Amino acid sequence: MGPHTPVLLNESLELLRVTPGKLYVDATAGAGGHLLEIARQCGSASTVYGIDRDADALARLQPGVPDNVKLIHANYSEIKEKLIEYGVTTVDGGILADLGVSSMQLDEPERGFSFQKEGPLDMRMDRTRGDTAEYIINTFSERDLSDIIYRFGEERYSKQIARSIVHARPIKNTLQLSEIVARTLRKFQRGRFDPSKHPATRTFQALRMAVNQELQCLEKFLEDSASLLGPGGRLVIITFHSLEDRLVKQFFRTKAQSCICPPRQPLCTCNHKAELLIITRKPLVAGEQEVLANVRSRSAKLRAGEKLA
Ligand SMILES: C[S@@+](CC[C@H](N)C(=O)[O-])C[C@H]1O[C@@H](n2cnc3c(N)ncnc32)[C@H](O)[C@@H]1O
Repeated sequence: MGPHTPVLLNESLELLRVTPGKLYVDATAGAGGHLLEIARQCGSASTVYGIDRDADALARLQPGVPDNVKLIHANYSEIKEKLIEYGVTTVDGGILADLGVSSMQLDEPERGFSFQKEGPLDMRMDRTRGDTAEYIINTFSERDLSDIIYRFGEERYSKQIARSIVHARPIKNTLQLSEIVARTLRKFQRGRFDPSKHPATRTFQALRMAVNQELQCLEKFLEDSASLLGPGGRLVIITFHSLEDRLVKQFFRTKAQSCICPPRQPLCTCNHKAELLIITRKPLVAGEQEVLANVRSRSAKLRAGEKLA
């Protein structure tokens, strides 16, 4: 895999309505694909904050960023607290998040994300804190492992995989785990094998999501981002996983509703006010050309909303 190619770049920028003088946040700076283009389009009159929980990604990015870009090493679930440290309480331009892992993270065997390259079972996007995949794999109960693999990987053989993992402990590296999963699936899947997908894809994805607590972080980030935006400010989210997309879709729906009382209740008592206008009724997806040029874009879904006055 080469350097990280930004997904749905033009679509994201258009939906953010990048305007000189306004403030923007790219909550997943990564290799800077979206961030640097936002900074270029809004010019030196604007400040653009780039957040990433991966300190290595920020260190690589820092030398190439213009003066109006400020990089922050943080989890995007801390967006509100971190921006306050910079004196920012309102984002009048927009907030972007392009979720998941970057190509650089997948490419480096020592990060532990790849099931095809030997490395330690780390999988933390932020290597300064949190439990590693090795800890989860070697200490969690069979039941908990099975739940993680089923819930986040949507893997129908989660129970069998969890059992094989527990029998094979201690598991020390990515290839060992990948082989255990492949062997289990060969045994139970028999003929129903999808040759286009590595058998360990779902299990690795599930463990990554558990290690990084991805859904919990996303939930807090969405809530705090909506409250940070000023009227007319836009929230643009790119997801790569059905569970993430469902969460984002549901979030936008709830925030766009002016009443959340039970449907049969005759009078409204909730006092809920619509906070966001949904801009994308259906999620935007990558076109044929983009998918051909960048296979990562195949599963991308983009949703956007605008803060109401
Ligand atoms: C798909 S990449 C972003 C790529 C970027 N848009 C670009 O074009 O270069 C996702 C990035 O988000 C970061 N990330 C994922 N979850 C995060 C979180 N909860 N908080 C902050 N950064 C996160 C990852 O470390 C990774 O660098």
